[in-house]
Amino acid sequence: MQSIELELGKRSYPIFIGNNILGDFGGTLKKYTSSKQVTVVTNTTVAPLYYDAISDSLSAAGFNVSLIEMPDGEEFKSLEWAGRIFDKLVEYRADRYTPLIALGGGVVGDITGFVAATYLRGVPFIQVPTTLLAQVDSSVGGKTAVNHPMGKNLIGAFYQPKLVYTDIATLKTLDQREIRAGIAEVIKYGVIKDEELFEFLKAHADGILEGDEKGLQHIIERSCRIKASVVSADEREAGQRAILNFGHTFGHAVEAVTKYKEYKHGEAVAIGMIYAAKLAERVGLCNSDVSLRIGSLLERYGLPLEASGLAKAELMSAMKLDKKVVLGDLRFILPKKIGEVEIKNISSSTYGDMIV
Ligand SMILES: NC(=O)c1ccc[n+]([C@@H]2O[C@H](COP(=O)([O-])OP(=O)(O)OC[C@H]3O[C@@H](n4cnc5c(N)ncnc54)[C@H](O)[C@@H]3O)[C@@H](O)[C@H]2O)c1
Repeated sequence: MQSIELELGKRSYPIFIGNNILGDFGGTLKKYTSSKQVTVVTNTTVAPLYYDAISDSLSAAGFNVSLIEMPDGEEFKSLEWAGRIFDKLVEYRADRYTPLIALGGGVVGDITGFVAATYLRGVPFIQVPTTLLAQVDSSVGGKTAVNHPMGKNLIGAFYQPKLVYTDIATLKTLDQREIRAGIAEVIKYGVIKDEELFEFLKAHADGILEGDEKGLQHIIERSCRIKASVVSADEREAGQRAILNFGHTFGHAVEAVTKYKEYKHGEAVAIGMIYAAKLAERVGLCNSDVSLRIGSLLERYGLPLEASGLAKAELMSAMKLDKKVVLGDLRFILPKKIGEVEIKNISSSTYGDMIV
């Protein structure tokens, strides 16, 4: 089992990554809490797969375990469902020392983190991510949220977990499309900070897509190291943390215009990365080699490079709603080369020209 420390002074925490480690979870958690009671939040897809393993391990370590199960889907990452989780916590008499454990993908992680941040003004929060996207991205860094009918992640808090516990064996039951979508975020880390990771993804694509544990462990570990170092330097995104949004400005617009139904988040990010690389080329930050290399790696993993048939006006207005608008210009993360990006404000006439 590997351990990466996310350094945030007194709020520093470890990210454990290993294969077939759910059985040791209870023993590990004991070192991080003196509570005898724990609550696991999961969903109806993940519960039948992994709840028994985690609750057996917790019981064997002496914990009393309560379960809160929610339906599966982004639409349940809502205030209404946060309310139902609060109700259950009150019913179970969870106190301010009772750890709240998120077992699942980014949806379960985000809503559980939001509830943990606010129930009794904050209770210990533990992430046990079971999708590749959650293991390389959403479980690390402390962004928690629920959606509002007017937009995604509009209600939330920065709230760091006490630990992240990643068992890569859980990826065996995950849909291939979900794996590919998670890979898009790993490719993102390669482009923003780590050319070696980018090349590793290229050299080991077959193995990774077939579920090779060593390959998966390596890319998850590298991704978490990058995210941990960026977050520890800029927890609340006052500056450099924004580089983690590479590919997301256009990606979010694609997701919004297609009503979050056509593309997985990672697929939209893939499209957004190509867009950003071409924009970087247009403003003279890099040559065409960068978008070609990113494009061929995305294709290798079966990820889309463009979203055709979307109305330019709708994409433009979705981008303008982005939190990154400064006096009409939009802040983009643009690659200078594989492994290095720059944050740059771009006028709407320039970024609009890139949408055909
Ligand atoms: N907090 C952050 O920093 C951050 C970063 C990126 C994305 N997000 C959020 O994450 C969410 C997307 O996360 P996601 O891609 O993990 O989606 P998800 O949580 O919806 O999971 C995808 C699907 O896989 C299922 N699943 C989960 N683990 C499984 C397993 N091991 N085997 C079989 N099926 C499994 C889920 O039930 C679901 O149907 C979005 O809400 C997004 O806003 C948050």
